[in-house]
Amino acid sequence: MTLKGKVALVTGSSQGIGQGIVLRLAQAGADVVINYRSHPEGAEETLEKVKAIGGKCYLAECPQSQAYTVQADLGNVDMVRELIAESIGHFGKLDILVNNAGIEKHAPFWDVTEADYDAVLNVNLKGVFFATQTFVQHLMETKRPGKIINISSVHEDLPFPNFTAYCVSKGGMKMFTRNLAVELGALGITINNVAPGAIETPINTKLLNDPEKLGALLKNIPLGRLGQPQDVASLVAFLASSNADYITGSTFFVDGGLLWNYQEQ
Ligand code: BGC
Repeated sequence: MTLKGKVALVTGSSQGIGQGIVLRLAQAGADVVINYRSHPEGAEETLEKVKAIGGKCYLAECPQSQAYTVQADLGNVDMVRELIAESIGHFGKLDILVNNAGIEKHAPFWDVTEADYDAVLNVNLKGVFFATQTFVQHLMETKRPGKIINISSVHEDLPFPNFTAYCVSKGGMKMFTRNLAVELGALGITINNVAPGAIETPINTKLLNDPEKLGALLKNIPLGRLGQPQDVASLVAFLASSNADYITGSTFFVDGGLLWNYQEQ
């Protein structure tokens, strides 16, 4: 599988799953745009890791993937449009968009503030909507096919008490993908969701530092461990490749079996 000659933008790639995706796409030969909001040092780390890939790529002849970092808050539509424009300006084109940036806020439903609701929905859904729209406009102008991969969550289907705004955003992402699979099919543009379960990343810091909560969560995961960013990234690389040309409008869960685990003692 090769992504040689392809250019990918991965939003929110200064850490966690986004960083893992950048590295995996670069290993497959793609040039990558690394986006960050508030952690330039994380984006630099991702960039250095891309440079260090060398012999770790998946191709017989290992290309040196190029990487470029761009600051943008996905919750701000003007910045989102500039991010896509700057990516195209740097590499001349974009072929793959990975909508990865996402945030969550913990609060019982009755305490959720308007500011927190807006923060979550703006990054997780509005930013995705307009990043995708700007990307699609670019593909239409240049008359080329493309691939969109959204990093959703098991919580596009599974309730997550105290994270209602987050679940609303991921449920919205599910219908976004189904709608666009239909609307963009004739343009040769595919769109799919990758839905992680509990992955060991900074979004989960509080949970990881609470042995009681972590123990309870692990009991719900049939494969008995948390996921790692590379568990998610390898599926993203497949969906970004020509091997996945006939796949669109689907969600793929990467959750160690968490979603369908219900047991009675
Ligand atoms: C959330 C995590 C949570 C995991 C499993 C993810 O979408 O971001 O906070 O631990 O789902 O519930």
